[in-house]
Amino acid sequence: MHLNSLNMSAIIFIFQLILAVILLPFHILYYLGIWGLVLKKAFPLFFSKVIISYNKEMKEHKKTLFSNLSIFGSSKELRLLEIGCGTGANFEFYPKGCRVTCLDINLNFKQFLSKSLAESDHLKFDGFLVASADNMTSVADASMDVVVCTPLVCSVPNTLAVLKEAKRVLKPGGAFFFIEHVASTDESSWISFFQKVLNPTWQLFFDGCSLQKATWKDLDDAKFSELNIRHIMAPTSWRLIKPHIIGYAIK
Ligand SMILES: C[S@@+](CC[C@H](N)C(=O)[O-])C[C@H]1O[C@@H](n2cnc3c(N)ncnc32)[C@H](O)[C@@H]1O
Repeated sequence: MHLNSLNMSAIIFIFQLILAVILLPFHILYYLGIWGLVLKKAFPLFFSKVIISYNKEMKEHKKTLFSNLSIFGSSKELRLLEIGCGTGANFEFYPKGCRVTCLDINLNFKQFLSKSLAESDHLKFDGFLVASADNMTSVADASMDVVVCTPLVCSVPNTLAVLKEAKRVLKPGGAFFFIEHVASTDESSWISFFQKVLNPTWQLFFDGCSLQKATWKDLDDAKFSELNIRHIMAPTSWRLIKPHIIGYAIK
């Protein structure tokens, strides 16, 4: 028997409701603004631990993607802005001499970022900016060869605003590199079902990160001059975030 979409939505809603009741204390803390403060402090430490396995699993994909960085400037000249830089998990893939500016909304990532920078003497560090990627007023127009974004827009409500800002700060011919987990495109799959059921809980514990982003549509809407994009099932043991898009868009 096939469930129609109305029945399916009702089932998803019931599961979400059960989870919301179980996690009611956390939701109350969230609405009181307390949970946000706790996460701002605790998330960088939590993330620095949980991200280790993901980064190992994604290593080959990152290596292949970032080998294209050299197309966009000689390594000594390459000016790269990493938005939502977190702990600085991508530094090992950047070419020698590359000038890196990091931007994140959460200052508490700085201690983890500093550790990664200390281990990356092949790079020149141009600074750490605390700002939201959808409003990067401290970054000049057409000042970057490359903008890098590896799971970030999952955490930002307005993806298109981030893409517009990335385009603004890129030089003409510069590129926006991305690796993002996205909503499953196979609506009939278990992954899609659990992404929907668990999304509110996931957002609560993963600092606003959404499992339901159709980021490929925003990339289309951002109207880059060229878009190289692949949909993959990422080789990660985190099953809910297996659907990924990976590639780069040229201004
Ligand atoms: C899932 S983590 C990924 C970190 C890093 N890009 C990586 O690949 O390991 C998301 C990061 O984006 C940051 N972030 C969330 N919302 C942001 C925003 N509006 N502007 C800039 N950074 C943001 C978070 O603080 C966090 O460091």
